[in-house]
Amino acid sequence: MTGGGTKPQLDSSLYKRLGGAPTLRLFTTALVSRVFSDPLLQPFFYGTNPVPLIDQLEKFLCVLTGGPGSWRGPSPQGVVAGFAVTPEHFDRLMFLVTAVADEMDLGATGALPELKDCLLALEPYLVNSSYRPTLPS
Ligand code: HEM
Repeated sequence: MTGGGTKPQLDSSLYKRLGGAPTLRLFTTALVSRVFSDPLLQPFFYGTNPVPLIDQLEKFLCVLTGGPGSWRGPSPQGVVAGFAVTPEHFDRLMFLVTAVADEMDLGATGALPELKDCLLALEPYLVNSSYRPTLPS
C-alpha cells in the first residue's frame, strides 16, 4: 500500500528533531525572559538569577527530550514543592511556551506537539497538591 502521509521520524530523538543545542538554548533563553516579565509568574522568581536558571533549564530540557548528558540538578517538583503553583500558573507557562515556539517557528519542525506533551506530563508534579481536583469519596 502506498500512503501519501509523512511518517514521524521515530528513529531520531525529539532533541534532534527540534534542532538540537542551538534551538534549546534560544528557546530556554526566550522562555525565561518571558517568564521574568510575566505579571503572574514573575513573583515566583524574585531573587532568582536568570543566567544560571537558563543554564539549568536548558540542561533539563536537553535530557527530557532525549539529548546528551544526564540531569544532576534538583527535581523541578522539589524546587516548587513549597510554592502555591496553581493550574492557572502552569497554563500561563504553557501559553508562554507556545508564544516562544511560534516566534521561533518551531511548528515547522513537526516536533512541537511532542515537546508540549513532555512538558504537560509534568503538570501533576508541579501544581501544588492542594489545587488538584479531588475525586468525590
Ligand atoms: C514543565 C514545567 C517546568 C519545568 C520543566 C521546570 C524546570 C525547572 C528547572 C530545571 C529548574 C532549575 C532547578 C535547579 O537547577 O535549581 C527550575 C527552577 C524553578 N522553577 Fe521550574 N519548571 C517548570 C515549571 C515551573 C512552574 C509552573 C513554576 C512556578 C509557577 C516554576 C518555578 C520555578 C522556580 C521558582 C525555580 C527556582 C528558581 C531559583 O533557583 O531561584 N517552575 N524549574
